[in-house]
Amino acid sequence: MKMNWSVKISGMTIGVILIAGIFMTSPAWGANKIIGPKQCSDSNCHKNVFDKLLFHPHETFFNEKYEKEGTKIAEKMNVKDHFEDQKCIKCHGVEVASTYPKVTEEEKGLFGIICETCHNPAEDWVELHDKKGKVPEAVQKGMRDTRNFYAWSKDCFSCHRGAKEEYFKAGHRLGEKFDLVQYSQGDFKHWVWSKEDKASGNLEDKLKIKTGKIWVAGEAFQVLFSTMRISEASGKGEYSEKNLDLLKKALANLQNVVKAIPAGNLDKLIAAALKVNADPGSAKGVLEEIKTLTQAYVNEIDASPLPSAKFASFPIPVESSYMRNKK
Ligand code: HEC
Ligand code: HEC
Ligand code: HEC
Repeated sequence: MKMNWSVKISGMTIGVILIAGIFMTSPAWGANKIIGPKQCSDSNCHKNVFDKLLFHPHETFFNEKYEKEGTKIAEKMNVKDHFEDQKCIKCHGVEVASTYPKVTEEEKGLFGIICETCHNPAEDWVELHDKKGKVPEAVQKGMRDTRNFYAWSKDCFSCHRGAKEEYFKAGHRLGEKFDLVQYSQGDFKHWVWSKEDKASGNLEDKLKIKTGKIWVAGEAFQVLFSTMRISEASGKGEYSEKNLDLLKKALANLQNVVKAIPAGNLDKLIAAALKVNADPGSAKGVLEEIKTLTQAYVNEIDASPLPSAKFASFPIPVESSYMRNKK
């Protein structure tokens, strides 16, 4: 899927390549459907989001500050050019068809993680999505429904807890610091209250509930992604152990959650995670079960058959704002 073009930016050549594997679940994914982030901001609709995010948390890979770290990892992995190689760019960048007329020359250099990485390629739905009442139709045409946080949280974890053993051994970060609340609701946060929410008031309570739900979902995903990583590990060793530590921490948190908000799917998820905890060798065997249960449980949180208000009681053990570039 590698494209034969690249652009010069701050002295580096950046190949821009398609994230093929991660977004298999998005039916509309395809480089030729990408319109580019500039269009999302040009209309002035999302200029604020664009200004906030572009070149912000999702582009440090292309930053000279990390050049040494990147080169070292790449060398150990026999990757010739990590700005071009699919092995790196599948998480650090996105491919745009060079011929795609809607993406301007100027912005080709801007591609790291872009709006459409998370909100899906926009050609089919961009004209629709801002018309009154048309969001469901736009979603049918491929727009990511950000209200379904199973889908979006899973995407964050796919990259942020996606580093396989081969990468870890070459010195790549494991993503230990990734916390769904901290990362999604800190400086990166770019959602706003709907008119209905604003009209109905109680925004402070609603925010607590939303944050609590995201935190609980994040702990469930941590169990899932740690299990996934452990299941792929070549055996005992630092990689497996560190992932097991992350699983243990999330498991303990979920055990507290289930006491406060009983849920059958969470009970089952905890039971499955306890198996991995007791014997990491069982991770492969229970992975499918953990996947299914995580999805079921997070959707339950999302659709709120569980008592919403109780989620507000969860202590959020993180700062509300975080971004390393800022500090
Ligand atoms: C396609 C892969 C991918 C997806 C999907 C993704 N990220 Fe990232 N994210 C990265 C990479 C890679 C970095 C490191 C910066 C870079 O190299 O661009 C990063 C960095 C960040 C940072 C900055 C962290 C810091 O140290 O300052 C935040 C915050 C962040 N991501 C939040 C999120 C959230 C929230 C989601 C889900 C809604 C998400 N990311 C989804 C790949 C991804
Ligand atoms: C599974 C997705 C994934 C793949 C594949 C991947 N990275 Fe990363 N990488 C990330 C994420 C996410 C971060 C941010 C981690 C954090 O700070 O929490 C990151 C961080 C980095 C950083 C630190 C600077 C920064 O941008 O935050 C370097 C350097 C880096 N990766 C190099 C590489 C190289 C070289 C390759 C290919 C050999 C590669 N990565 C492949 C997801 C990935
Ligand atoms: C790393 C993934 C990611 C990137 C990149 C990203 N977004 Fe988002 N966006 C999300 C997520 C996740 C949500 C929902 C967050 C929540 O509800 O807490 C969201 C919410 C939104 C919303 C609010 C939707 C609503 O119903 O409230 C808008 C508008 C938006 N994004 C536009 C953009 C634009 C424009 C860009 C590019 C400049 C962009 N996003 C880049 C993940 C991303």
